Order: sequence, then C-alpha cells, then structure tokens
Amino acid sequence: MTAGISRTAIYVAAARAIGAREPDPAARNPDDLAEKFLGDPAKLDVDHPVVNALGLDYDEAMKDAEVVGNVRMMTVRTRFIDEALQRAVAGGATQVVILGAGLDSHAYRFSELLAPVKVFEVDRAATQALKRQRVEETLGGPPPNLTYAPIDFEHNDLPHGLARHGYDPSQRTFFVMEGLTMYLPEEALRAALGFVAGRPPGSSVVFDFVYRPMVEKLAMMKTAEVPAAAKPFVDRFLNLIRDEPWLTGLPVGGEREYLRSLGLELREVLPIGGEESVKRYLTRANGTQLGAEALAAAMARMAERFRANGQAAGAAAPTFSAEQLREQQRIMAYQLADAVVA
Ligand SMILES: C[S@@+](CC[C@H](N)C(=O)[O-])C[C@H]1O[C@@H](n2cnc3c(N)ncnc32)[C@H](O)[C@@H]1O
Repeated sequence: MTAGISRTAIYVAAARAIGAREPDPAARNPDDLAEKFLGDPAKLDVDHPVVNALGLDYDEAMKDAEVVGNVRMMTVRTRFIDEALQRAVAGGATQVVILGAGLDSHAYRFSELLAPVKVFEVDRAATQALKRQRVEETLGGPPPNLTYAPIDFEHNDLPHGLARHGYDPSQRTFFVMEGLTMYLPEEALRAALGFVAGRPPGSSVVFDFVYRPMVEKLAMMKTAEVPAAAKPFVDRFLNLIRDEPWLTGLPVGGEREYLRSLGLELREVLPIGGEESVKRYLTRANGTQLGAEALAAAMARMAERFRANGQAAGAAAPTFSAEQLREQQRIMAYQLADAVVA
C-alpha cells in the first residue's frame, strides 16, 4: 500500500464492512459500499483483527470480541450519522462537507437524496487518491454533485481550501467529522468547529469524540505497564494508530460549554455502547443484541485472567465500587454529538 494512506480509515471501513454482513437490518451497518471500497483484503496491509476478519465468514468473524466491539461501535456511528444527514437535507441543507472522509460512502449511498446537494469530501491527498481509485474501480466514478478537496486542514486553511473547490460559505451546510476529532491538534479542531459555527443558522455538524483523560491514558499506555490480559488488544490499537496519534479530547462533561464557546449548540450526545445506542441500533428484531455472546464470553475470560494473574502475583484483584466504575465509564466514554449553528 502507498505510504501516507490512513490506516485508521481502512480499519473503520473494515468494521463497517463486517457490520454490513449482519442479516438483520435492525442491527446491520447500512454501509454496503465499505467492502467494495476496501477491495481485496490481502492488499490492505493493515494487520488488525478487524481487517483480517474481512477474509472470514460473518459468524466466524463475530466470535472475536475485538471484532465485535469495533463492529458495534461503527454500526452505531454510521446509523447515527446517516440519520443526521437525512434530517439535515430534509431541513434545507444545500451543501454537505465530509471532513477527513477516508472511505466514507455517504455521497454514493445517498446519491439520490443528495442529487440536488453539493457534496465535498476533504482528506489528505494520499488517502483521497486511494479512495478515488477505488470509487473509479467499483462504481465507475463519483456522482456529478461530488467534489474531492485534497486539503490537510491541520496545515492549510480550510475556508480558503474549500472555497477554491467551489464551496459556498453562505449556504446552509451539514458537516460530518467522523473518526476525526481525536486525531486533530486542539487548535485545528477548534478552527474546524469554529468554521462550522460561522455558517448560516441551521447549519450543523455530527462528530464523535472522547474526553481528555482517554487521550492522556492512551498516550501513557505506550510506556506504562498494561495488565497482561489487556496487553495484546492495547498493543494492536497502538500499532494501528502509530502514524495517527490521538491528540485531542473534550473536557469531561463539558462538551456543551466547549461547543457553545465556539458558537455551536449541542442538540444530542449519544454514548456509543450505552443503553440508548444499543436499543436504537444494535438490537435485532428478535430482541437479541448484536455480538452480545462474544462480548460476554470475552469479559468472563478477561475476569478469569485478571484473577489468575492476581493470584499468581500474590496480590488481591483490585476492587472498585459501583460508583467508581460508573465514573470511570463516564470519563472514558466514546460519544457521538450533533450540534447546530444557533
Ligand atoms: C479514522 S479515519 C476516519 C475516516 C472516515 N471519516 C470514516 O469514518 O470512515 C481519519 C481520517 O481523517 C483524515 N485526516 C486526519 N487528519 C487530517 C487532516 N489534518 N486533514 C485532512 N484529513 C485528515 C485521515 O486521512 C483519515 O482519512
């Protein structure tokens, strides 16, 4: 694979591709183009269970809790964003800007809905070149309303870059920042959200985010002792993001104020993996939850390994109160947000 192509873009698209194989539409990832855009898994050159699972049968792939965890996250993410896109267009957005697009498929899956809308995909040049090649190969080319804007908005000015590609800042716009905020330096994130906030009222943005302690924890994990039971998983993730480190999180519990200070009003925040997200997007028609068996089995295995390791080291396994656990979950949450220009 060419240097400079985002490995994380491949990884998230792989999780969407696996999720799109779920038979029940009530819990399926609607991204039926992810698999096509990825192409031959053997050529992807990203060594991660989620990418390797592309070569497996769906039921087999979903026995691996690491695969399941990623598939669940991406299914919630895709469906939340799909719904926000549909609402934004129904509400009068005439432009859609997808920042850090990677292998995003909205412009192609929603080509009918978006026919009267101008769509812009922004990404770094190398990743965008791969995307364009895959779109040519699989779909014969992009829809006529789509413009590719190869802009690195960490190092280049986003407003001018977009304008150069025909973006009209005076029109109501829906922005997608999927899998992006954590990879941007805080200044670039503020600048991007500030740019959104400067668009006409009714313009909106969806994005996923973590809180600052999560980013700090990830940075520490490079050097800190990680429990043996969690080490392979952590190492694989650190390897995956080795060229795309996580840099930015929002202040704990402060997303509303953070956005307000930039000129945006938070409409909804949805914790991924929380009860509401499971109910909306991960529950099959028969009431079962996508991947629940594999997750329960993995939790039991991990608890057993922690216990065994603790006993071997002569130490008591750490115990946490329910309140401490809840606080930990709150701080380490991974969430989706929908915000609007007031
Ligand atoms: C985790 S991937 C997500 C891709 C896509 N949004 C998705 O969810 O499938 C992050 C994407 O953001 C892009 N990206 C990161 N920093 C960027 C920057 N400064 N300028 C432009 N694109 C950037 C990467 O190239 C990559 O495609």
